[in-house]
Amino acid sequence: MKKPLAVAVRTAVLATALASLAGAAGAADIVANPKAAPNKIEQCIGCHGIPGYKAAFPEVFQVPMIGGQSARYIEAALQAYKKGDRKNLSMRGIAASLSDQDIADIAAYYAQQAPADGK
Ligand code: HEC
Repeated sequence: MKKPLAVAVRTAVLATALASLAGAAGAADIVANPKAAPNKIEQCIGCHGIPGYKAAFPEVFQVPMIGGQSARYIEAALQAYKKGDRKNLSMRGIAASLSDQDIADIAAYYAQQAPADGK
């Protein structure tokens, strides 16, 4: 009964497979909530599309499909754009505008999607 809250938080973080990312952004108390994602991903849809909703300009530049990728991968990619470790003009600006909570929610949301056909 020493630190019930800390233990609960750690369990939740482990359960969402975010443990390895916790150190990077001090994200130990962030619990991904995919239900909070839909109004955070409106700006992503035009480029990345969502299942059943095709990207508007797939021919203009190559945009990777993110639906169905693992939450850990999506989160790591967004954090890398945010920090500038991974360089892409569009994604840099977008990721910089996202909080760690936003990134966790979005990653969990996209991980639940089925990979779209095609790309
Ligand atoms: C202006 C178009 C555009 C918008 C808007 C956009 N993206 Fe991207 N995104 C890209 C492009 C282009 C790449 C590939 C960049 C690269 O090669 O590193 C990319 C890459 C990614 C990747 C890495 C995918 C991989 O397979 O490595 C993730 C994750 C991602 N975007 C998430 C998002 C999220 C979440 C949003 C909304 C908050 C968003 N993007 C909005 C264009 C966009």
